Amino acid sequence: MRNNQKYNFFGFAILLGLIAGSGSSVCLAAQTEAEDLTNIDNWPQIESPFPHDSQTEDYITKIINTMSLKEKVGQMIIVELPFINAEDLAKFPIGAVLNGGDSSPGGYKNTPLAEWVSLADKFHDIVKTRDGAYIPLLWGTDAVHGQNKIIGATIFPHNIGLGATHNPPLIRKIGVATAQEVIVSGQNWVFAPTLAVAQNYSWGRTYESYSSDPAIVEKIAPEIVKGLQGEIGIDFLSDRHVIATAKHFVGDGGTTDGRDQGNTSINEETLVKTHAAGYEPAIQAGVQTIMASYSSWNGVKMHENHYLIADVLKGRMGFDGFVVGDWNGHAQVPGCSKSSCPQAINAGVDMLMVTEPWKELYFNTIKQVENGEIHLERVDDAVRRILRVKYRAGLFNQPHPSLRPGGGDPSILGNMANRSLARQAVRQSLVLLKNQDDVLPIPANSRVLVVGKGANDIGMQSGGWTLTWQGGIDRNESFPKGESILQGLQRAIEASGGKVSFSENGDFTERPDYVVMVFGETPYAEMKGDINTLSFSQLNGQPLELLKKLKSASLPIISVFLSGRPLWVTPEMIHSDAFVAAWLPGTEGAGVADVLVRKPNGEINFDFEGRLSFPWPDSPEASELSKPLFPLDYGLRYQHEPTADKRLPKEN
Ligand code: BGC
Ligand code: BGC
Repeated sequence: MRNNQKYNFFGFAILLGLIAGSGSSVCLAAQTEAEDLTNIDNWPQIESPFPHDSQTEDYITKIINTMSLKEKVGQMIIVELPFINAEDLAKFPIGAVLNGGDSSPGGYKNTPLAEWVSLADKFHDIVKTRDGAYIPLLWGTDAVHGQNKIIGATIFPHNIGLGATHNPPLIRKIGVATAQEVIVSGQNWVFAPTLAVAQNYSWGRTYESYSSDPAIVEKIAPEIVKGLQGEIGIDFLSDRHVIATAKHFVGDGGTTDGRDQGNTSINEETLVKTHAAGYEPAIQAGVQTIMASYSSWNGVKMHENHYLIADVLKGRMGFDGFVVGDWNGHAQVPGCSKSSCPQAINAGVDMLMVTEPWKELYFNTIKQVENGEIHLERVDDAVRRILRVKYRAGLFNQPHPSLRPGGGDPSILGNMANRSLARQAVRQSLVLLKNQDDVLPIPANSRVLVVGKGANDIGMQSGGWTLTWQGGIDRNESFPKGESILQGLQRAIEASGGKVSFSENGDFTERPDYVVMVFGETPYAEMKGDINTLSFSQLNGQPLELLKKLKSASLPIISVFLSGRPLWVTPEMIHSDAFVAAWLPGTEGAGVADVLVRKPNGEINFDFEGRLSFPWPDSPEASELSKPLFPLDYGLRYQHEPTADKRLPKEN
């Protein structure tokens, strides 16, 4: 079954060099260099949680035996939506599609739910009736914090906030809820969870990481996988679950200077202990697909790393699902392009993710198998893995996507149960970093002035990967069921007999008892979110000016900081009486007021429970995290701990 295991690493590289000619000599050199530094015993040896099942394997063998080379190669390609339509799908035996961060049926943003579902049904019919063996279609989507492509869905806090909850069972429930809302729009596969262990906050994907601490990622990984996919032996890949993807294998969070898609230059032990920590438990929980990382390890692109993908992941770590490439990730392998990359397939990537030149990739790959650049055995192994996942997921017997439980039902998107789960996650993710003179929680009957750009902006509080790739294009209008932080504060404060006034720029006529200032990073996603300093005021100086102005009026200030990573905000903290790290909470902004505001009878409503899952920096230099301002696990409580913070420098 694992044909690729037959070749030892070095023999494989030579073989490749011989058959592919001069083009692969670079690859040979690079892999030889990497090999010198590796020892497979560094990696955990895992027995697959799926014992060999001859019934399944025989079923797959029967199908494979009927498949033409074209059909096999078609299974190994996943095409992004705007580049493939119904006619193409009828003509070409493509096995999977995705909508990317910015693509959707119709190709425009905010596509109505009905269009998603009808396209999923249509694709299902086409694939069912086209020539050749019937192999159901996979449709993947980046549901990285809820079904974040669809208007009205519940948007959960990004992973960085979930890490701060230190509550894996809650994260598992979020996986269940996410699967439920993804099924509504007709998809059967999600490109989540991200198991990156981000080490450098300059990286614009830090918020997709649960923690910089591998021990935390290790605890969360199996729970989110079980939530999305169900649990082996109980409800694994039932009709209420979706296929999950652990990503990005491996070392995505360790690139030099935190550059996205960069090079992770570390020894193998660190790669295993830090960056691979989530994969062992994810595999044991049964994760079915793993996405190769754009990044390189010691100069070798992950998409060409036969040792890590074939030998380590599929061999030593017992992974019997399939490896999907990242979005045109194969094109970054030296000697490859979007339309041709035998190297990636030979390295063990089973399915290549591609955009406009997918037909060229399809024809080129067929040719490369015919001329021996790619062995038919490798193709058969890839197809077997892909079919195995489709079979395990029950897709061969599944009806139209709209007929799955909840399929096409808009009332399931953003339903009350999922929203209150998200609200609980928001509450538990908040980390209290400063609470001078116990200014929090806000007493009943208070007059509160809410200020700042983040106060009434659900798009901003949700961050990247929200409706669009980079996020942030809409404030509140595209979130019919969500609530901004302001709306939550208004409800809670008014219920306790107080009064809220809102002024984004901080102007006021009536002097308030308290100011709540909501500010922070504006949305971004991969690539665009990389920064060169951790100094928030250097990136955005306006909030500090406003804080100084309000402080000079001697008003008690409660800062709520929205961010996809810890940043150096010491100046902003000095000018705040209380400071709350709120991360990127998503649509349920009301969870903030739950903790900040006392009950009408004066009691504490909810105490803080969040603790840092990333140390908080004491310097604008990303490289200086060894002496943090607040260490991992830090987080004040109303009730159990001293609230006056002694670590912060005094206001001057
Ligand atoms: C990202 C992946 C994502 C894929 C599909 C890539 O650019 O790195 O995390 O799953 O696009 O949108
Ligand atoms: C796509 C994303 C993808 C990114 C990669 C975007 O246009 O929508 O899905 O991750 O490009 O660069």
